[in-house]
Amino acid sequence: MADTNGARLPDEIRDAIDALRPRYPTEEALLLPALHLAQRHWDGWLPDEAIEAVAHELNLTPAKVYGVVTFYDLYHQKPVGRHRLRVCTNLSCALRGAEEVLASLKNHLQVDENEVTPDGKCSFVHFECLGACEQAPMMMVDDDYRGHLTPESVRQIVEELD
Ligand code: FES
Repeated sequence: MADTNGARLPDEIRDAIDALRPRYPTEEALLLPALHLAQRHWDGWLPDEAIEAVAHELNLTPAKVYGVVTFYDLYHQKPVGRHRLRVCTNLSCALRGAEEVLASLKNHLQVDENEVTPDGKCSFVHFECLGACEQAPMMMVDDDYRGHLTPESVRQIVEELD
C-alpha cells in the first residue's frame, strides 16, 4: 500500500468512483476520471490532500498521481476562479491577435495568469492550440468555446459571466 498520509476521499466521491469501476480495466485507467471527480469536489483544483486521497483510493503511489496531475493542463494544483478562461496563443490565434486579446483580458481582470480575481470569479491561463483554429482568436470559458475574439469582446464576455 502506498504511503498517502492517511488522506481519504469523501464518501460521495468514493461512491462515484465505485460506479465507474466496471467501465475501466484497471485502477490506473480509472485515474483520469477519478481526478476529475476530486477536482470538482475541491472547487476546481487538487490540493495535496486530494491527490493523496485519490492515490489511496486507487492503490497507486502518490508519485504516480502527481505525475499525471502535472502532465495534464486540465488539472490544477492551485485555486482557480469559478470561471476558468483558457486563451489560445498558438499560431492561428497569434496571427489573428491573440496577444492583444490576452493583454486586454489581463488588464480587465487586474490579475496575472494563474491568479484568481479578488471576488473569486475568474482565473486565466494562456494555452496551446485548443483545436478551434477556424474561430481564431479564441478561448475556452469553462467548457465552452468563444471565438473571433477582439480586445473589446473578451472584456464583454467576462462582464457577462455570473
Ligand atoms: S491555434 Fe488557437 S485554436 Fe488552434
